[in-house]
Amino acid sequence: MNIRAAVLQEFGRPLVVEEVQLADPGPGEVLVRLHACGICHTDMYTASGVDPSGYAPTVLGHEGAGVVERCGEGVTLVSEGDRVVTLFSPQCGECIHCRSPLTNLCLAIREQQNLGYLPDGTTRLSREGEPLRHFMGTSTFAEYTVMPEIALARVSPEAPLDRACLFACGLSTGLGAAMRTAGVREGSTCVVFGAGMVGLGAVAGCRLQGAERIVCVDLSPERLELARGQGATDLLTGGADSVEAILEMTDGFGADYTFEATGLVAVMRQAVEAARMGWGLCTVCGVAGRGATLDVIPRLLITGRRICGSSFGGLKGREDVPMLVDRYMAGDIDVDPFISHRMPLEDVNRGFELMEAQDGIRSVIEFG
Ligand code: CU
Ligand code: ZN
Repeated sequence: MNIRAAVLQEFGRPLVVEEVQLADPGPGEVLVRLHACGICHTDMYTASGVDPSGYAPTVLGHEGAGVVERCGEGVTLVSEGDRVVTLFSPQCGECIHCRSPLTNLCLAIREQQNLGYLPDGTTRLSREGEPLRHFMGTSTFAEYTVMPEIALARVSPEAPLDRACLFACGLSTGLGAAMRTAGVREGSTCVVFGAGMVGLGAVAGCRLQGAERIVCVDLSPERLELARGQGATDLLTGGADSVEAILEMTDGFGADYTFEATGLVAVMRQAVEAARMGWGLCTVCGVAGRGATLDVIPRLLITGRRICGSSFGGLKGREDVPMLVDRYMAGDIDVDPFISHRMPLEDVNRGFELMEAQDGIRSVIEFG
């Protein structure tokens, strides 16, 4: 079928919205009609050409939500008409990682996905006979996409898809970091560095876990206000003295849990140093630039601080994303303040510009 899609033709150039071809879903694959898709930093990062693992030409987009249009042979996990959130982090349920409660890094289709192919090593996307690769296994800057069934989370039939799409990446990454990776305990003190989509999700996750105190650190007063709306009890303008300020706020000890959501190694270091002696846990969510390394004073670890990292918030997508969407629908998570702009697919490059200018948290593409 012919569909409209935003193609990354050349790194560093604007995406081209044009007609491309999408083949039928193969065995274990599903045709999804997209209703909405958030524009995430990772899309822009890849488009810029800075990402060493990036490839082109490809159809970008990975924060999608839509409806199952048709199932390929042998598909059992979803059926026609289901509302689904796309998962760049799939859950096959059978590999050694899926069977372990300790990680969400499913191994089933990793290699092919990283290369831009569906699990059988081919693409369903093409343009005038030339194959187009599938970005992050999702390619949701498009009216339709074909994805493996293990990479779709079936959400409530009532879920509004223009909000549900945020659970495909940024929001879930933050929520999960607090709820799954760190497992924040009731009554604890938390510090979140960075009030973008992931950091704000972490603030909300800390609140849902019953944290008593949630400090949010950012440079932007507007973003800090958004953090307050998500449950932050203390707002701090970031700077070289952030660690000192946090120690002062916590009787000199530091926080039970710290979260880093900026991708800057200098901030990661602050997040480690702001964690409490004895048991403070620092969770790194941000993706650092190519070749960057993190400086840590080993004594901080000897005296009981711990560091961990989190990909997609440690969430097992097919189980956890529907649960989070349910919590949103029950009124536990306030999603609307995150959506700053809505636009048609044609305006995807404007979405990148807004993100570059740090204008708002999320632009959401809506498909007519
Ligand atoms: Cu993302
Ligand atoms: Zn797996």
